[in-house]
Amino acid sequence: MARRLRVGVIGTGAMGADHIRTLHRWVPAARVVAVQDLDVDRAKQLAADVGADVAESADDLIDAGTVDALIIASPDPTHAPLARAAIAAGLPVLCEKPLGTDPQESRSVVDAEVAADRRLVTVGFMRRFDPGYLRLKDAIAAGRVGVPRLVHNVHRNRVGHPSATTEGIVVNSMIHELDVVPWLLDSPIVQIEVTSPVAEGFRDPQLAVLRHANGALSTVEVFIEAAYGYDVRCEVVGTAGTAALVPPAVVTHATGGVAGTEVPADFRPRFADAYRLELGAWANSVLDGSPVGPTAWDGHRATVIAAAGVASLHEGRAVPVPDEPRPSLYG
Ligand SMILES: NC(=O)c1ccc[n+]([C@@H]2O[C@H](COP(=O)([O-])OP(=O)(O)OC[C@H]3O[C@@H](n4cnc5c(N)ncnc54)[C@H](O)[C@@H]3O)[C@@H](O)[C@H]2O)c1
Repeated sequence: MARRLRVGVIGTGAMGADHIRTLHRWVPAARVVAVQDLDVDRAKQLAADVGADVAESADDLIDAGTVDALIIASPDPTHAPLARAAIAAGLPVLCEKPLGTDPQESRSVVDAEVAADRRLVTVGFMRRFDPGYLRLKDAIAAGRVGVPRLVHNVHRNRVGHPSATTEGIVVNSMIHELDVVPWLLDSPIVQIEVTSPVAEGFRDPQLAVLRHANGALSTVEVFIEAAYGYDVRCEVVGTAGTAALVPPAVVTHATGGVAGTEVPADFRPRFADAYRLELGAWANSVLDGSPVGPTAWDGHRATVIAAAGVASLHEGRAVPVPDEPRPSLYG
């Protein structure tokens, strides 16, 4: 049998558990051999489900020499330090978004990769693997909408994570759009303006207007406490027409005098295919030695844009996104 990638997973919460189960069920190229979480009981439960060991600490997992690659699915502030530790150990790593909670942190990961002269980090912007977003990108590239002028994005959650903050709405949630829309249009974001109808306290929802280098404008609504369910939309409007995502595999009901479709409770059903494709592509790419998916540079640039978005929200004005030269490691 072909060699299987031995994967260690740090963080066994909602996302880590989902990645562990997806790898176990859907990715024959990989097996989860070790997990680690501050909540040891949770780690033990997940480990038992997939026949993995439980590591005592993240350092133990990274340095034990028993894993070929790492998934980081612990909270945001742990991402950059753990990614740097993985690079120091020479381990390929799939790091959940955001790569850093601020540009200094995300840049430190880029600098570590550049110093190692090796691309080891893939950032978990799974929308780039989502069949819907991929078709949308193909449609734009094929000229089906003409010249793209506007992109309208909606990103709603039923309830926020307990750690959600006003700034985190941009840095943790909107960051998906800050990565995927420039990728869709093949045009970077040069300016961001973020506002909210809520003036104080937890400022949810938020509305962003993004200006792209090619002149296109994007709107992004993020509503963390939208109450009714998880809902992600994207419509590209161009000079020849529009192209938009429709929810995959929905079930319609007509009952009790109401007809309609189910709305998922969270991100997992909506992006299940994207996570499967992301993890499969990542495991195969590590085995092949050819990196795939969003790079540390992509993760860093999304965090730079997010920081400009937070500044915009606080200062009440549009903020230019600072430019910086792309290291040659990233092509
Ligand atoms: N790509 C996506 O679509 C997506 C979706 C959800 C979450 N995420 C990201 O995944 C990460 C985890 O989110 P979640 O929703 O699973 O959160 P969660 O709260 O459900 O799980 C986090 C887990 O990490 C553990 N933990 C905390 N500190 C740790 C540490 N220092 N070392 C090891 N484990 C630690 C906690 O005990 C918990 O089990 C976040 O960074 C989030 O941004 C990505």
